[in-house]
Amino acid sequence: MGEPPPLVALDDVSVVFRTRSGLFRSSALRAVDGVSLAVTRGETLALVGESGSGKTTLGRVSLRLVAATWGRVSFDGRDVTDVAEEQLGWLRRRAQIVFQDPFSSLNPYMRVAELVGEPLLIDGVRSRQERLERVHRALEAVDLVPAARAAAKYPTAMSGGQRQRVGIARALVRDPEYIVADEPVSMIDASSRIDILDLLRGLQLRRGVAFLYITHDIASARHFADRIAVMHRGAVVELGDAGAVIDRPVHPYTRALIAAVPEPDPANRHRRRAVGGADGADGDFRVVEGCPHGPLPGGRRPVLLDMPGDPGHFVACHVMSAAGATAPG
Ligand SMILES: Nc1ncnc2c1ncn2[C@@H]1O[C@H](COP(=O)(O)OP(=O)(O)OP(=O)(O)O)[C@@H](O)[C@H]1O
Ligand SMILES: [Mg+2]
Repeated sequence: MGEPPPLVALDDVSVVFRTRSGLFRSSALRAVDGVSLAVTRGETLALVGESGSGKTTLGRVSLRLVAATWGRVSFDGRDVTDVAEEQLGWLRRRAQIVFQDPFSSLNPYMRVAELVGEPLLIDGVRSRQERLERVHRALEAVDLVPAARAAAKYPTAMSGGQRQRVGIARALVRDPEYIVADEPVSMIDASSRIDILDLLRGLQLRRGVAFLYITHDIASARHFADRIAVMHRGAVVELGDAGAVIDRPVHPYTRALIAAVPEPDPANRHRRRAVGGADGADGDFRVVEGCPHGPLPGGRRPVLLDMPGDPGHFVACHVMSAAGATAPG
């Protein structure tokens, strides 16, 4: 027997959106560009990158909520790329999503008991008693206690942090193995953010749930994630253990993201820099010093290469054209 397959595997996945740009014209936007990435059982993989880099699309394609235009997606070794939605009931139970906005993602006319119990109804759990027990267990797992009291509330009577706990309980009630948490704390007050991230970390450690944690905030990824994948313009440009990526960033885009983290010490504020540079050009991010094998000839795409002496740390080395100019990434 070989190694078990990763829980989630993306193999050279691209997602192209066609948008209408006129009556008869449409344009194509490559939101995800040739990404290969695996999430192993029980790990937290953070996906960081600026707005529009393709994080949400990548998370959704990993759940087969968005179709891959090219490439393969598999879950627990089963290829789900072309499986019809009616055949995906098992995946809908085993993989879940927690949304960014706990205000718009929860129906304000449903009580917490119904919101959290709804996935069980969809799954055909007929026994009211069993649904109630599982709802209470999920509420306790997110520290909404006493569960019976929380279950009777409407989300409108709750704080942002509490609502997000309801969203997490709704994801947990099916006992999933994989949860995509898409900016789960960006819309809640700063004082509750750490609590929610600690809660997710606890679920990962105690229940072995694997998370894809999507965030702009590379600093939070350091504390919350085992590994970090940095996304830039639809591609993963750096991947590795959280400590390696943050302490030894190689790709210039990763370095820029780290440099853009607000500096708490006013004396060092002048070091703050916006990602993308003053002119907003991406050219700075193409040349990677320290690329293990130097620029590769031919081809157009950056290639993820293992850094020598730093196992598991991968960096996209952009490819030089024959003329010696850096190819667009
Ligand atoms: N359904 C869609 N149709 C057309 N274009 C889309 C669609 N969804 C996303 N896009 C485009 O794909 C690109 C990537 O979007 P995505 O939402 O994945 O980025 P993101 O990294 O999650 O950004 P943010 O941090 O703002 O949430 C963007 O240019 C976006 O406008
Ligand atoms: Mg997003």
